[in-house]
Amino acid sequence: MSGESVKVAVRVRPFNQREIDRKAKLIIKMTNQMTMISNPDAPNEEPKKFSFDYSYWSHDGFTTTPEGILEPVPGTNYANQRTVFNDLGNGVLKNAFEGYNCSLFAYGQTGSGKSFSMVGYGPNKGIVPITCDELFKTIESNTDPNKRFEVTFSMLEIYNEQVRDLLTKDNPKGGLQVRQNPKLGMFYVENLKKVPVGSYEEIEKRTEQGTASRTVASTQMNATSSRAHTVVTITFDQIIKQENGETKKSSTMNLVDLAGSERADSTGATGDRLKEGANINKSLSALGNVISALADLSMGKKKVMVPYRDSALTKLLQNALGGNSKTIMIAALSPADINYDETLSTLRYADRAKKIRNQAVINENPLDKLIRELKEENDKLRKALEGGGMISNEAGLSPEDMQKMRKEMEEQIRSQLLANQQMLNENVQSWDEKLSAARTETNAIAQEESKEVKKRKTVPHLKNLNEDPMLSGVIFHFLDTKETAVGRKDATPLPSICLSGLSIQKQHCKLYNNKGVIEIEPVGGSSAKTKVNGMPLVARRILTNKDRVLFGSNHLYVYINPTKDDAPKDLPKEITWEFAQKEIAQAKGFATGSSEMSKEQQIAQEQILEILPMVSEVNAVSEELNKYKSFEVVLISAAAQEGLAPTKTTSFFGRKKKNEESRVMVKMKDLRNGNTWLWERGKFMNRRYMIQEMYQKYLDGEDVLSIQKEADPFWEPIEDMLIGTANAFLQSLSYALDFDDKLTITDYKAQEEGFLYINIAPCTASGKPLDEDYFVENANELKGKPFHFKITIRSADVHKVRFSKGLKVKYRVYKEDQLTETKLVTGTMTPEFNHSRVIAFSKVTQEHLEWFETGSITFLMYAKQEDSDGDPKLQKLTTRELRQMDQIGNVAASGRRGTIFGSEAIMAPENNAHVKTELVVLQRKYERLAQKEKRMQQVCEEWSKKPPEEQQFDAFFRTVSAVANSSGTRLKTRVQLLNKDSRNGHGDDDTISLFVFGEDESELAAAADENNGFVSYDKVSKHHFEYEKFPNQRFGQVNRSSSYDEDSLASVDLAPFMASEQENGVDSSVGTHKSRAKLKNGYKTGPTQKRSRSLGNDKNGVNSSGKVTEDNGKEKDGSSACSLQ
Ligand SMILES: Nc1ncnc2c1ncn2[C@@H]1O[C@H](COP(=O)(O)OP(=O)(O)O)[C@@H](O)[C@H]1O
Ligand SMILES: [Mg+2]
Repeated sequence: MSGESVKVAVRVRPFNQREIDRKAKLIIKMTNQMTMISNPDAPNEEPKKFSFDYSYWSHDGFTTTPEGILEPVPGTNYANQRTVFNDLGNGVLKNAFEGYNCSLFAYGQTGSGKSFSMVGYGPNKGIVPITCDELFKTIESNTDPNKRFEVTFSMLEIYNEQVRDLLTKDNPKGGLQVRQNPKLGMFYVENLKKVPVGSYEEIEKRTEQGTASRTVASTQMNATSSRAHTVVTITFDQIIKQENGETKKSSTMNLVDLAGSERADSTGATGDRLKEGANINKSLSALGNVISALADLSMGKKKVMVPYRDSALTKLLQNALGGNSKTIMIAALSPADINYDETLSTLRYADRAKKIRNQAVINENPLDKLIRELKEENDKLRKALEGGGMISNEAGLSPEDMQKMRKEMEEQIRSQLLANQQMLNENVQSWDEKLSAARTETNAIAQEESKEVKKRKTVPHLKNLNEDPMLSGVIFHFLDTKETAVGRKDATPLPSICLSGLSIQKQHCKLYNNKGVIEIEPVGGSSAKTKVNGMPLVARRILTNKDRVLFGSNHLYVYINPTKDDAPKDLPKEITWEFAQKEIAQAKGFATGSSEMSKEQQIAQEQILEILPMVSEVNAVSEELNKYKSFEVVLISAAAQEGLAPTKTTSFFGRKKKNEESRVMVKMKDLRNGNTWLWERGKFMNRRYMIQEMYQKYLDGEDVLSIQKEADPFWEPIEDMLIGTANAFLQSLSYALDFDDKLTITDYKAQEEGFLYINIAPCTASGKPLDEDYFVENANELKGKPFHFKITIRSADVHKVRFSKGLKVKYRVYKEDQLTETKLVTGTMTPEFNHSRVIAFSKVTQEHLEWFETGSITFLMYAKQEDSDGDPKLQKLTTRELRQMDQIGNVAASGRRGTIFGSEAIMAPENNAHVKTELVVLQRKYERLAQKEKRMQQVCEEWSKKPPEEQQFDAFFRTVSAVANSSGTRLKTRVQLLNKDSRNGHGDDDTISLFVFGEDESELAAAADENNGFVSYDKVSKHHFEYEKFPNQRFGQVNRSSSYDEDSLASVDLAPFMASEQENGVDSSVGTHKSRAKLKNGYKTGPTQKRSRSLGNDKNGVNSSGKVTEDNGKEKDGSSACSLQ
């Protein structure tokens, strides 16, 4: 096939700050036109090679001039903006002057540098502005009096298949129509504003106008700019006077900054039942298909249908891609190892694109002829319209379809007639008139803008922050009046800062300017959501320079005071969107920015930072549309992932390697019946996109509330819920020993959810137990021989009533592909599974032995969920109320989460849980010490106030010692146990440490005081008895003051209260005693003395850490308060 192929350039950007911080590895190499990419996970693999027309190394080898321009260091191959322009932009210019249509695309994932190359940042202007600049320079240097030039500019955005004109404020609902010219077959945007421009400055102003309009849309309409395609079209006409009339040479330049190319499957959206429904990247995938089809055609394949019609973008780019255009594609590459998959896919895309061949022709025609043709066409169209369209029913369409098609056709003809008429009129009105009219408008914009720029230097203001750096610092709100109201545009009086979008109240907030001091105050009650520096704004406060202000869920600003820099010195010079988001995440309890984090943790953190604002947004939509759903970000540990769809990362014995453990997911909860779902990050993002779309429709007045549940992004069919996991380590098998244990089932937050009773025992091939005395001294003795062991899952014990609808366990052994399931046991919290299975190794290998030594079997406990309307009382509440209740519930459920964790997010990798726990313990200790100190001071003060005759030193000393030995408000004392067991027992066993609370404290202290520090058992039992009588009230008390207090943890066994709570139907996981119990097993130091009163299965097992533990779980009798250690 003849023609000219699409020119392809690739460009690799420098590492960004995050990549530098995390010490990212460089995976791209370039030599001449060759670009190589190496797989970071396979260092020995040969790098993949690609060759393109141009390869730009912009990764390193540059310096920054004082003006901020990036320049190559002599001797390096760094390509700066000029270099890229010289190759690509110049070509575009040359072609435009010759009368060819030109197109320039930028393709690549978000953040890879598309906008940098196309538009540029600050002084580093990109190809588009330089090209425009040069265009006008060339025009100005023209001396031929018979030549004149006409340039127009238009700018549009395609988001979610809707086309928006960026140069006008009033876009119709649903966007502009993309229509097809019935004669030429080409597509165009109906009513798109084409502004005549006469200088580069005018183009610059118009570009700024378009960018501002994108920014507003991206915050007001909850759209994400990285999902939008921006198309700038410049038409360039040269009218040349010749002897026989005028000819017109015209060129259309399409400059396209494409949406981020990140594929849905790399985030995990592929598993979503609704993935087809989302238009997320419809235009982009359609573009991919068009490119593939065109590449096939160019390779000589016949009968290829090019699917231009599949999306708005491909319709508009039909010419640029497969027709009359000289086309360049620039593929932007990230240099970092974690983007390997995406970058490779970009390279492949580019590789395909370079095969496309186009047939560009010079568009040069006599003007008369053009006008004549337009008129003729209009006549034809009019006739066609009168004759009822241009369709003959050859395809055998039904009358309805015919009718529909006819209507569509008519509409198209009408609009084409209009467009043609406009073009004819254009030729009537002189270009100069049109240009001068457009200039009046452009100048007004420019003047407004220059006033603003001046004002920014003197007046305190809010400057917007956007996740797309291109859209940051675009909107400014000046705070120069005494009072500036922030609110919605339906408020009266109209607020001076009008915002729309989620969680913005009619009257949202007020800012005061008190002689240059700016104060901010929330209005509209507690539901008005404003945050300052990540913290909710609850009362009037002064703003200091660089404070970050978030209105609702999307409108983020930085406060700038140009006259007084009172910003804290530790703030960065420039506040970025990322910085502000990190801070919000931190306020919600997410640790951020530690340099000690592993690569995987940093990735997880990055994902969390990305997803948190989306979760807030989706929650806000759920409240507004009353969807009864609540979302939170969760980090799922490796163990808990066993039951989830595997990710690409290969694993060691079916388990992921350490540090690759945590996966960021989103939990959706039905607030009425408590059902939960876990969503992959990609699935959530997919849904979030659909939710945005739904919300947009809702704002547009569509009825979105009565949609079918199958089409509802908030709806999900019921699925089994993973309650938690329990890990059995297998060292005992190395010695052919039995392993019998009560395993703790912990959920993804490392909170205890119950116990699992299992046995793993070596056995004969038929499953018979081996002789008791059988023992292997050295694991190597097993090697080469057959080996059998039996896994028995006896029973379980879960803590939450709502899990009693049905329980089952799933697990995977060694390298099995399939999970094995036990039967489902319904209607109980203590299911008996009696499941057993014999595993046979025909010949034990070294790998088997390693598995015994370091591997484990993860048991996954699942609960059945049922679709129900839930508690009828809850039906009357709104989603907002339910979410509030749920959050209060969460805080009450776990004191530490109230302070350490936010309500929208729980950080839960196991290793972090350790750190967090330590932190909480430290905090408690600190509080306790502070309280102690206060009490000491009190005691001393009281003592000093006493008349000398009453200053009895003994009593004083005792009190002080008591305080010193107490833990906080509680008194620690020694209590002698006088019960039967201990009387026969050994001396030390008889004395325990007891902590008591509240009123009982003084009573028992007094008793101890009287009796050498010993308290008789009946006093203690009375104390205990009272707990039993009012378990719930008391429990809260115990809970709050004792959670994570190591000393008390080892001391009071609250099992009986748990039992009584369950009977009352109270979810006994509400409260930290679960975590306490966990601590009891996991964190206790020193020897454990087992009381001999334990009942039921009184059996010592080897727990996962190999220590001997006590089995006290089944103990439920009333006196168990004394089964203390
Ligand atoms: N060639 C480059 N040289 C220097 N910085 C770059 C380069 N390419 C991209 N960047 C920087 O990387 C960030 C992301 O680039 P951007 O062009 O906004 O990405 P995209 O438009 O693909 O989402 C920006 O801060 C930009 O300044
Ligand atoms: Mg961009």
